[in-house]
Amino acid sequence: MRLWGGRFEGLSDERMAEFTRSIDFDHVLALDDIAGSIAHVHGLGRAELLAPDEVETLVRGLAELRADVAAGKLTWDPALEDIHMNLEVALRERVGPVAGRLHTGRSRNDQVATDMRLWLRRTIDGLDASIVVMEQALVGLAERDGDAILPGMTHIQPAQPVLFAHHLLAYVEMFERDRGRLADCRRRANVSPLGSGALAGAGYPLDREGTAAELGFDGVTANSLDGVSDRDFVIEAMAAFALSMVHLSRFAEEITWWSNPRLGFVRVSDAFSTGSSMMPNKKNPDPAELVRGKAARVIGELTGLLALMKGLPLAYQKDMQDDKPPLFDAASTLDMSLRVMAGMVATLTVNREKMRAAAGEGFTTATAVADALVRKGVTFRAAHHIVATLVAEADRAGITLDALDDATIAAALSASDDSIALALVGDAAVAADLRVAAGLEGALAGCDVIGGTAPRRVASALAAAKGRLGL
Ligand code: ARG
Repeated sequence: MRLWGGRFEGLSDERMAEFTRSIDFDHVLALDDIAGSIAHVHGLGRAELLAPDEVETLVRGLAELRADVAAGKLTWDPALEDIHMNLEVALRERVGPVAGRLHTGRSRNDQVATDMRLWLRRTIDGLDASIVVMEQALVGLAERDGDAILPGMTHIQPAQPVLFAHHLLAYVEMFERDRGRLADCRRRANVSPLGSGALAGAGYPLDREGTAAELGFDGVTANSLDGVSDRDFVIEAMAAFALSMVHLSRFAEEITWWSNPRLGFVRVSDAFSTGSSMMPNKKNPDPAELVRGKAARVIGELTGLLALMKGLPLAYQKDMQDDKPPLFDAASTLDMSLRVMAGMVATLTVNREKMRAAAGEGFTTATAVADALVRKGVTFRAAHHIVATLVAEADRAGITLDALDDATIAAALSASDDSIALALVGDAAVAADLRVAAGLEGALAGCDVIGGTAPRRVASALAAAKGRLGL
């Protein structure tokens, strides 16, 4: 039964067979393997290594196998070790001994490398679509509730107010970069190793470029040793997956905090919450927590792959078979995480009042007040000092900065060593301007640069994002 068993005596030890086989996980490559085989058969035909009727028979058999795989009708035999040998034997059962010609000029080493590239290519396309759905959910929320005002934080301390839409669009930027990384990885992965043979190059004049073109590859690998043993494309993809999970986990963490009743900025819909088996009051944002947790898993899988390849000599080594479980798992984990987070975001309820109240806590408009003084000619350092005095006064009085009276403002200005600040003492219009800057709307409007949170800047960023996403 073993296709490689010619020089072997006796049977494989059961433990060895179970330990070394990959069919339990590489069966997901079946359609890619068949696509590669069909292109290879056509190539063998062009090289006149197969007669036209042989090409026809083999392609017909492979097409039948493809239909059976798609319909879930093919079963895998663990004794046949991997997907490649399962399919070769299944083909022989269908078309007879001519199946023995399929493996001419091909090794499982260039075959599996081809399969993996084909699999990755279509998986990246699917993930790209899932990232777009996530971005669309973020943009949808930004349109619905984007004019809510959020307390922007640094060091998890109140810093400056930002539009909720601005915050959401920050994640859209991250996910757009993720898409770029995946596209970049896809481009480098999209070359054909077929014809590399086991390691030295196929022993026949195969038209590698024609076969590559048939499979939709942009070209062929340039070195047969590298062609069979390169797994950079796997690692690059894993790095992109892990980073995307990191982005999701950051947003997941924010949702868990925002939905805590103490903050109450958002409410996660019941459809995306779970309860407690003991505490009847509980509503937990489980999916967000799990996304945060699963980011750890994908990071671990990336690290595992780097460790797997580290120190492997050329060319193919069996270690490399173990690239598959982590790659397949990471891709499906990312896809599921994107899809569940998109659903959670699309059904989130925003409490603008609670957000707004929090946005004003902690004197978050202080920087805007200092900026307003600078616009009147005061040095930034002097303005910083004056506003710090105002913050201390407001804190003592238990009021916000936009409620400070003219006398308190005059006192802070007159304590300054800045000549322009001193000239502003007692000017009621200046005090009024500072109070406007100290309001949430005034503070937002002040950050009027490309990429800033001023409403008109956010509106154009939102329009740009919608354009990119075809919304
Ligand atoms: N199942 C193997 C893998 O995934 C296929 C390649 C095996 N090559 C070999 N020479 N044993 O890596």
